[in-house]
Amino acid sequence: MDTVWSDVSTVPLRHRVWWAEDALHASNPCWQEALGGLEGHCVAFIDSGVAQAWPALAERLHAVVKDTGLDRVSLRAVETIPGGETCKDGLAHAERVARTCFELGVSRKGGVIAIGGGAVLDTVGFGASIAHRGVPVIRVPTTTLSQDDSAMGVKCGVNAHGQKNALGAFAAPHAVICCERLLASLPLEHWLGGFSEAVKIALLKDADLLATLERDAVRIRSRDMHAARPVLRRCAELHRAHILHGGDPFEQGSARPLDHGHWAAHRLEALSGWRLPHGQAVAIGIAIDAHIARALGLLSALDAGRIVALLRALGLPVFHPLMQPADPLIEGLEQFRQHLGGQLSVPLITQPGTSREVHEVPVRAVQEACQGLANVA
Ligand SMILES: NC(=O)c1ccc[n+]([C@@H]2O[C@H](COP(=O)([O-])OP(=O)(O)OC[C@H]3O[C@@H](n4cnc5c(N)ncnc54)[C@H](O)[C@@H]3O)[C@@H](O)[C@H]2O)c1
Ligand SMILES: [Zn+2]
Repeated sequence: MDTVWSDVSTVPLRHRVWWAEDALHASNPCWQEALGGLEGHCVAFIDSGVAQAWPALAERLHAVVKDTGLDRVSLRAVETIPGGETCKDGLAHAERVARTCFELGVSRKGGVIAIGGGAVLDTVGFGASIAHRGVPVIRVPTTTLSQDDSAMGVKCGVNAHGQKNALGAFAAPHAVICCERLLASLPLEHWLGGFSEAVKIALLKDADLLATLERDAVRIRSRDMHAARPVLRRCAELHRAHILHGGDPFEQGSARPLDHGHWAAHRLEALSGWRLPHGQAVAIGIAIDAHIARALGLLSALDAGRIVALLRALGLPVFHPLMQPADPLIEGLEQFRQHLGGQLSVPLITQPGTSREVHEVPVRAVQEACQGLANVA
């Protein structure tokens, strides 16, 4: 018999998150802790939308790092990177991040600070993950969606070959610092977009959160931080807990509960030429999946109606003209199957707080969902 060596080694995954009303303040101790384990040069990339809204931010960041008093860490440069899906268009911007690490002497003990929406965090994170096979990244999410979902994850990537996140990596953040103040400049569409992920996670895991969203939809829509704050934090907590304690952080199995509504969302984003924002696409995807679940007899008509009504109350769309005819959208199911590798597995809601993986979605159910939502919109 041939010799076989087979072992399983356990690698610890540390995941630290700070929340602050104003994190970019020299006196905020989160920076000392986040930068504390690093050594040498760091570089920061700021989302162009954020840089435009907060022109003094680069200067502030230099002061914040200097005032930590950590003399083994220096911030070499603060650069701007295009915000939104523009930076995820192929490898160019991620490659620039990696190149900058080499040009500025940022090593695997140094760090990359990424300040921006989910698209910038994905691109900068991916660039940093391939430089020296992984430079530590401090994420500073600046949108509702990146604070309540994407910054909590362990994935990064860019769009390519006409598909969402076609190239990417698993790379846990060194630290995550959520700053509420930066949300003030977020355009309304992107403020609302982040709450689609809150509806998603509430449907999957927390019926009480769903009731809170229903109760506070009007206040959330009008950007009342007292109503939004607990929702954003609970949503982040649930995403983070699923990834860290759900038993499959690196997605080796085929069940992907957090991808509820996402097969359709990713397809619509691609079909729109990346013009439809992720948050809005997810809202539509959730509505489509609710109709499909109802058609398959998994979800009551009452609950399906409740989901669509909540999305609309939050100012989110449930239909896009690209859903008619439905054929191009339906291709998204096959792309999702290929992404999973092998069997299709679509998480559908059975009742608020509970879901089930479905391995077959009839074309007719998608067509009917699209028609039904066209009538609602
Ligand atoms: N890696 C993951 O696990 C994961 C999870 C969910 C979503 N995502 C990705 O995140 C992306 C969506 O991210 P998003 O919803 O945060 O939007 P976004 O990153 O696309 O940003 C939206 C727009 O808002 C601007 N912006 C960002 N913050 C701002 C601020 N504070 N003030 C003013 N303008 C600001 C940006 O410049 C951009 O124009 C998608 O590409 C999606 O695939 C990744
Ligand atoms: Zn998403």
